[in-house]
Amino acid sequence: MKIGPVNLPSPFAIAPMAGMTDTAFRRLVKRHGGCGLVVTEMVSAEGLVRGIDRTLEYAEYTDEERPIAIQIFGGDPQKMADAAQIVEGMGADIVDVNMGCPVPKIAKHNAGCSLMREPEHAAAVVAAMAKAVRIPVTVKMRAGWNDAERNAPVLARMVEDAGAAAIAVHGRTAAQSYSGAADWSIVTQIAGALAIPVFGSGDCIEPEQVIERVRAGVDGVLVGRGVLRNPWILAQADDIAAGRARRDVTREDRGRFLLDYIGLLREERLDERLMSHDRWVVNKVRALGSWYTKGLENGSRLRTAINGVDSLPALIELVHRFFLEAPAADAAAAPTLFAPSAP
Ligand SMILES: Cc1cc2nc3c(=O)[nH]c(=O)nc-3n(C[C@H](O)[C@H](O)[C@H](O)COP(=O)(O)O)c2cc1C
Repeated sequence: MKIGPVNLPSPFAIAPMAGMTDTAFRRLVKRHGGCGLVVTEMVSAEGLVRGIDRTLEYAEYTDEERPIAIQIFGGDPQKMADAAQIVEGMGADIVDVNMGCPVPKIAKHNAGCSLMREPEHAAAVVAAMAKAVRIPVTVKMRAGWNDAERNAPVLARMVEDAGAAAIAVHGRTAAQSYSGAADWSIVTQIAGALAIPVFGSGDCIEPEQVIERVRAGVDGVLVGRGVLRNPWILAQADDIAAGRARRDVTREDRGRFLLDYIGLLREERLDERLMSHDRWVVNKVRALGSWYTKGLENGSRLRTAINGVDSLPALIELVHRFFLEAPAADAAAAPTLFAPSAP
């Protein structure tokens, strides 16, 4: 499948997740296969234009991750166009607009999902960006602002007309935040109505669900929390799509993933100023750990243990003990039982 001229090796992608889908995590997921597109965490257009270091760090990526979309948020058409040019200058393949973030801090600046409340303005943002860059401009939106304003089908058509090369729809409203279930019927309805590729997002925890969504008519699927729980989900979906048995993920694989993640993080941000580098790595692993341990037997114990470690060596030791060592007599101290991704 293609987004504008950009070829995607598969229709399965890592959804953008602020604080989670950093370049190290994306690289590892990509290495396991099945991932057609990665999207950065959302990056402030204002921060890009002002050249703020922290913002630029969020937009960092490596060639290994291509094709890559950098997602930006903002509400001013000119600033979004300027930021899109910066993203293009950074060599990204695609620039994506965040029209889904429900967080008041973002929404109050007329950015994120609040753009959906002003469709004409949202379309003007996309038009200004599409005029400013040669790379494809894409949009990620929700079903609408709230139940009374489920306007994604109308807005999707408007942003297509304004020059968007693809859209993604998370089938919840901003008012729902993450409660309830994603409404995939609105996503398939939009996919049926638009000429550009339409990705759906929401609640895919098992690879079979990803495949089901594509079979129901969406062009691609962005997997968010499911990939944090099971970074192999896209590779497993790709296995199923190709008629192969979905690959098994062993306890050891899961341990190696965390150690590899720690290894890549340790190579990064060596100029971290706000806290010690080790501390930053531990915090990143804690953030992933809160998702990664879900569905594992003894997962909550592991989560508590990760939250309790006081140093990076202690964290590495814990990962070794939990995932890589033979079952110990004292299962409470070294829980080793493991069950792969239960829903
Ligand atoms: C921790 C977290 C951070 C997120 N950050 C972003 C973001 O920066 N930009 C965005 O468009 N969506 C963001 N999302 C929404 C996801 O991309 C996705 O659409 C949503 O979680 C539904 O898919 P899922 O059920 O597969 O997680 C975030 C979701 C989570 C859980």
